[in-house]
Amino acid sequence: MGLASATGRPPRSVRSVRVFAPASVSNLGPGFDIFGLALERPGDEVVVRAAPGSGIVSLTVTGDGGRVPTDPLRNAAALAVQGVLDRLDSDAGVAIEVHKGIPLASGLGGSAASAVAGAVAADALLGGALDRTALLECALIGERKGSGADHADNAAPSLAGGFVLVLPGRPTRMVKLPTPPGMVVAVAHPALEVETLGARVILGDTIPLSAGIRQWGNAAGLVAAFFEGDWELIERCVRDAVAEPARAGLVPGFQPVRVAALEAGAVAAGLSGSGPSVFALCRGRLAAESAAAAMAEAFMLEAGVKSDIVISGANAAGARILETE
Ligand code: HSE
Repeated sequence: MGLASATGRPPRSVRSVRVFAPASVSNLGPGFDIFGLALERPGDEVVVRAAPGSGIVSLTVTGDGGRVPTDPLRNAAALAVQGVLDRLDSDAGVAIEVHKGIPLASGLGGSAASAVAGAVAADALLGGALDRTALLECALIGERKGSGADHADNAAPSLAGGFVLVLPGRPTRMVKLPTPPGMVVAVAHPALEVETLGARVILGDTIPLSAGIRQWGNAAGLVAAFFEGDWELIERCVRDAVAEPARAGLVPGFQPVRVAALEAGAVAAGLSGSGPSVFALCRGRLAAESAAAAMAEAFMLEAGVKSDIVISGANAAGARILETE
């Protein structure tokens, strides 16, 4: 099913479309570059308007403290919009506004959300012809520039919502997986930044076979656990044998923060994407609130930094059209 039919195809006379795309937690332990989960908030909003001329005629960004590039060739949302124009072979003129709600370098998929919102808005403005796979491909053109790597584990959940498996390679294929009833996600975003590109470079190109075996065993186990709603298996399988050990040093206080979440009642916890945010999977909202408070306290104690907290259902909606004019 195409996203346009899921979100409502706008009438032909539409001049402007505003889209919200949510933040996401990627990797979820063993799913480096293949698992991602949408959050209810925060999110980025992108407005794409018809404008005189051809191609992207203007680009403005708010909410970023002036740090996100406004050169369309370096901006995730603009690259995704251009991807839509190219795919539709359109020479329409468009003006783009990006409103950042997701903090930069937070490990919450900010550049992916901007790219997804841009792709969905541009497609809707031009009639909503693209299906979900095509929209994801367009968003990935922007995400590639943002993270310097080809991974869809933030863009896919931001587009489709919920917990998503993205298969590596082309053509892109995403599979939405069920989430256990009552699962609530807690996220602590400390006042720190980790650039994804650097956090990928330190991983190198090879892993020991023993780490591979642990990783694919846990990834397969986690998929089964989500289907079965098996909390014990979730607890056992949310472990990252590949990226987290190498990245833990990039996030001061990470290990004590993770332990604090578990001691406060979370079932599992780990780095969100490349960090510095830390996620915890919890049974119910009360447990998530306790885990979030414990993580924030531990970040303050261990690293001397404040944290923003997000509590979200595990089956949050993906990108959606907020307004058309
Ligand atoms: N899977 C990616 C990584 C997500 O861990 O590098 C980046 O947000």
